[in-house]
Amino acid sequence: MADDQQSSVSMDTIVALAKRRGFVYPGSDIYGGLANTWEFGPLGVEIKRNIKSAWWQYFVQRRADVVGLDGGILLHSKVWEASGHISEFFDPLIDCRNCRARYRADTLVEDKLGQPAEGMSTEELTRILHGADMACPACGQKSWTDVRQFNLMFQTHLGPVEESGTKVFLRPETAQNIFVNYKNVTQTTRVKVPFGIAQIGKAFRNEITPGNFIFRVLELEQMEIEYFIKEEDWEESFNHWRDQMAEFYRWIGLKEERVRVREHEQDELSHYSKRTVDYEYKFPFGWKELSGLAYRTDFDLRKHQEHSGVDMTYYDQPNEERFLPHVIEPTMGVERLLLTLILDAYNEESVTDVNGKEYQRTVLKLHPRIAPYKAAVLPLSKKPELSGKAMEIVRELRDHISVEYDETQSIGRRYRRQDEIGTPYCVTVDFETLDDEAVTVRDRDSMAQERISLSELKSYLLERLNQ
Ligand code: GAP
Repeated sequence: MADDQQSSVSMDTIVALAKRRGFVYPGSDIYGGLANTWEFGPLGVEIKRNIKSAWWQYFVQRRADVVGLDGGILLHSKVWEASGHISEFFDPLIDCRNCRARYRADTLVEDKLGQPAEGMSTEELTRILHGADMACPACGQKSWTDVRQFNLMFQTHLGPVEESGTKVFLRPETAQNIFVNYKNVTQTTRVKVPFGIAQIGKAFRNEITPGNFIFRVLELEQMEIEYFIKEEDWEESFNHWRDQMAEFYRWIGLKEERVRVREHEQDELSHYSKRTVDYEYKFPFGWKELSGLAYRTDFDLRKHQEHSGVDMTYYDQPNEERFLPHVIEPTMGVERLLLTLILDAYNEESVTDVNGKEYQRTVLKLHPRIAPYKAAVLPLSKKPELSGKAMEIVRELRDHISVEYDETQSIGRRYRRQDEIGTPYCVTVDFETLDDEAVTVRDRDSMAQERISLSELKSYLLERLNQ
């Protein structure tokens, strides 16, 4: 039986597993990599799709008050002027004068000096770093510039000529498409305040100290909702969304003891927020932000109204009043949640096989909603009568769930491979199957095996996977 030996795992182990099994590869790998970019392999893409569809199902499909949107990555520059991203979306940076390595100043203060740096001004950061007699982690010299602010938005140009008037930004958050389309949605659908608009899509941030694998990336996918409310309802709505986020994490199987909520201090609030809480996860490198919930007030709609000249007010017909809605925003990053789910599911266990022999296994106890494959069909031998039967089973199951077929190596090794990629059920086809029309189904977590008749296999699996 399984005996949990390890509840936390090093990042190196996860990075190696992710590459070995085809979850995540380094970006532009054959050219030596492109710093801090990652690509998602056959298993990674399945998990990402599962995360996004679980989120969509939970927050959009299941609710009557949230509708979807799929906006563009390129938006008019005026959007970012209005939203404050051109003037406010900065990280504090410091350079080594000797080797020109560039660091985020707040990260250096936190990681190298062990002091909290959230919300510190550039002057304070400069004073602390210059006073700390700290060597550059890259070259060992102690020659620093002052701390400067650096805008995180990636820029490009529309058309073939790089003139100032053609400059556009890749969106650093998906939220702004929602504000820009808020009027379109209210005019073309039946939504009534309170209601939400949800979007999943890419966002880009020119992060200077990305790192910790896919925790902080340059190109990310966000899952965001802007929930439009009357101002006086903001606290009730904030609490509702905080509970919904926790409920969603339970629904996809995250361990509650490794998640906590942290209230932002006043001086660390984003420029648009009056109140923010982060959901934090206990990563191997400490408690860090997993996702956020912000009360954005009417900041964005008001700014877009001012900058575009378009009236963004909402007319509440039953009460005959006109107002600018306020906004509660639950937001999550797909890559960061994927990393969290893999870390959370990772276990190394000492187990005993059917012959009483002890061995070590690595198992990803992913929730079936998240697991890349829901079942693997494994013929005991490559003989055509078994592989043919196994393929028949695969074809039938594939109409309902994602299934892997594997006929290479010993059955023990194939079980271990499926454990390591988190497949909840293995279906073994043996010579008896040809006579009794039944297969052995092995449960990933308990490793219990049950003989199930082929006529019941599909409902047996579907029932357990939908728990
Ligand atoms: N619209 C609000 C907003 O963008 P944020 O806290 O900057 O807020 C929301 O980002 C979420 O997006 C974070 O909680 C995190 O999950 C994810 N995220 C942000 N920057 C990221 C990055 N560079 N790499 C990976 N995920 C990131």
